[in-house]
Amino acid sequence: MEERMVSGEAYATEEQEEQSLRPQVLSQYIGQSSVKENLTVFIEAAKMREEALDHVLLYGPPGLGKTTLASIIANEMDVHLKTTSGPAIERPGDLAAVLTALEPGDVLFIDEIHRLPRAVEEVLYPAMEDFFLDIVIGKGPSARSVKLDLPPFTLVGATTRAGLLSAPLRDRFGVMSRLEYYQPEDLEEIVVRTAGVLDVEVGQEAAREVSRRSRGTPRVANRILRRIRDFAQVKGNGMIDQTITTEALDLLQVDKLGLDHIDHKLLMNMIEKFRGGPVGIDTIAATVGEEADTIEDVYEPYLMQIGFLQRTPRGRVVTPLVYEHFQMEVPGRE
Ligand SMILES: Nc1ncnc2c1ncn2[C@@H]1O[C@H](COP(=O)(O)OP(=O)(O)OP(=O)(O)O)[C@@H](O)[C@H]1O
Ligand SMILES: [Mg+2]
Repeated sequence: MEERMVSGEAYATEEQEEQSLRPQVLSQYIGQSSVKENLTVFIEAAKMREEALDHVLLYGPPGLGKTTLASIIANEMDVHLKTTSGPAIERPGDLAAVLTALEPGDVLFIDEIHRLPRAVEEVLYPAMEDFFLDIVIGKGPSARSVKLDLPPFTLVGATTRAGLLSAPLRDRFGVMSRLEYYQPEDLEEIVVRTAGVLDVEVGQEAAREVSRRSRGTPRVANRILRRIRDFAQVKGNGMIDQTITTEALDLLQVDKLGLDHIDHKLLMNMIEKFRGGPVGIDTIAATVGEEADTIEDVYEPYLMQIGFLQRTPRGRVVTPLVYEHFQMEVPGRE
């Protein structure tokens, strides 16, 4: 996939930089107030009872802070964090190895939990519910089933698509938190905080501009800020002000609403080839040369959030806001 400035997904090259930008405690985690308030209570209660925190499912579009929250939870509970992901756990034995290495109260973070193989999921059910493992060791006539007690632990699952989780797995999470796109004020605060960590000066207007064009997504805001810092260093005096910010964002082809050339292509195709829709998701995917899943997970949620796209039973439809954004006349209905 092409590396987009405004994609909520992380690029391999960003991992290290991101790590250093992650807040460590809940009080430094900006925005998502209802998620935060709930977690604060649950964490405090679990600590008072000296129990492991209930299993937590975090879901929402990429780049909103799921991984960050998982590590904050472990930190606040004062336990170890063990991180893995759905696709990394291929067989029940892989999961057993991870689970048996946990210490009481530990947090096991499974990213992309909707991609766990079914056979692995089945091992997870009793582990989550009653803290025991029930696995088959060996093959053929010598195969035998083994039961093992596990320490109480907290599973934190993250997914961009809660709908893809099987019902039995979903039901085993005591806490389900949906992360939302950030409000501009929250994003602005994140931008200022990141600038502080990066030790670069950013003006209030500039911070506002970045937050407006970052699709409600901290990962995008941080990425854009780092790029503007480059511009400020090379073309300016190092300070991130309004002028260098607008200049940089225009050069990076991120428009006023945080849309880039791929969003433009997607929307213009719908208008020019399909009169604004309804168009099926597979057709949209084909016209921009992407997988339908990618369109649904990465491109579409923000376009729907800002009211540019609507889902109908017959497919996606662009709204009048899109025509306005492109300064085009809204076509009359025949
Ligand atoms: N509430 C927040 N306050 C400050 N920074 C945040 C917040 N949420 C996320 N960030 C920053 O945004 C970046 C992305 O966050 P994170 O990696 O947790 O996203 P994610 O939801 O796990 O994404 P993915 O779905 O791709 O796994 C991190 O560098 C983190 O520092
Ligand atoms: Mg993550």
